Amino acid sequence: MKYKIPFGPTYDEMLHPHLNTDAVQKKAKSALKNELDPYNLFNITWRKADGTINKVVLPSSLTGVDANIVVLLGKDFPSGSHKVGPAYATLMEGCVDGEIIPGKHTILGPSTGNFGIGVSYICNLMKFDSIVIMPDNMSKERYERIEQYGAKLDLTPGTESDVILTLERTFELKKNPSYRALAQFELFPNYRFHRHVTGNSAVEAVKAVGNGRIACFASAPGSAGTLAAGDYIKTVYPEAKVVALEPYECSTLMDGGRGQHRIEGIGDKMCTLIHNILTTDFIALIKDDDAVRGLKILRDGDAVLKDYGISKKAFDTLRDCFGVSGIGNILGAIKMAKYLQLGVNDNVVTVATDGFDRYDSVIKDLENRYLETEDFVLKRWFKDIFMHMDTHHIKDVRSENNKQRLFKQKEDDWLKFGYQKDYLDKMRSIDFWDQEYQKVFTYNKKIKKLRGSEINE
Ligand SMILES: Cc1ncc(COP(=O)(O)O)c(C=O)c1O
Repeated sequence: MKYKIPFGPTYDEMLHPHLNTDAVQKKAKSALKNELDPYNLFNITWRKADGTINKVVLPSSLTGVDANIVVLLGKDFPSGSHKVGPAYATLMEGCVDGEIIPGKHTILGPSTGNFGIGVSYICNLMKFDSIVIMPDNMSKERYERIEQYGAKLDLTPGTESDVILTLERTFELKKNPSYRALAQFELFPNYRFHRHVTGNSAVEAVKAVGNGRIACFASAPGSAGTLAAGDYIKTVYPEAKVVALEPYECSTLMDGGRGQHRIEGIGDKMCTLIHNILTTDFIALIKDDDAVRGLKILRDGDAVLKDYGISKKAFDTLRDCFGVSGIGNILGAIKMAKYLQLGVNDNVVTVATDGFDRYDSVIKDLENRYLETEDFVLKRWFKDIFMHMDTHHIKDVRSENNKQRLFKQKEDDWLKFGYQKDYLDKMRSIDFWDQEYQKVFTYNKKIKKLRGSEINE
């Protein structure tokens, strides 16, 4: 059977879209008018049209700390979140490796939402049938979007913290030889995308901010793909602290906690296979409802924030930029800035995976749960959540004991899915991670050579 490898960017072209030919750049620009134009694959990047990194530096009147909190914004990626990057990278690597064949294989996307949206979106662009496997209790905006992109939904019971059921379901479905899973929790294109594309973008984002360095990178793992940016950041700024944030209600990495929580996309009750435990320095907890109430403040608290010196213009810029996990990440960044006693010249980088467009229903739910959400309530919330952020619930996990504990957690989570102890043991060496990363450069060449070409199976 003859088939054609899809035409899409290399890792380097996602980091530097200006490396694409003028013709491709032109087509990518005009594809912005039609989100289902396949040239949008070339718009998978952290960069805005002007070539700068899409970010905000939060005013200290909002964060209550001197350090600069720099947030990379994922909302303008095609499909509305940066999760499209790992979805694309995994599918494209599979295509150039001859493991995933257009016209022959159906793609499985185990997810709690954004990755599923990303998978359904790129499958639409790259002409694959797809099935997204996700819990049945996530925000309704997510299901609508996945179906709109043409994927089928295969729902498992529960919410974010029941993601393990989606993995078990995928494990079963994968036995069908015509299915291929883009398994974000265990496949390394996710790690490669974030270490290379997000990591370099983070370093560039702070160049003209504070001392131009990164003191801390804080990010809440779902798959722990985004955390891999920390591995790159540490190669440039070895002093940088990498912090994994978790919901207080589901503190699996901190102490084995496994409760339900409200921060969609993170806190999935496991140590994912692609999480580089070696480079995680701290684990810090954020209360889930602080993230939801924080989002409400940034949506509707313009009058309140004005009293604290945040102009209407600044408020309007921020209003659509975050989802619940983005606010959780910001709160984690504030917590760490306080804990590490960072000053005006220091930068803490974090990430907003998506924007507000998929959280209307979460805010409506909050309004139903609270008796009052008038300005006087939002003012109290703002002071409690942002201004008076505490430094409790932070654990230093740099000790050997803690690394062993987390490796044990990884074994508990992954041996049952058929991974061998030998393989997991290799992950105890930094060389393993560096070798996985180096494959970026092999895939850059391979994708460039093979994309768009006809292949005999
Ligand atoms: C809204 C949201 N925030 C955070 C994350 C976590 O990102 P990662 O999977 O890279 O750890 C996800 C992942 O799907 C997400 O959808």
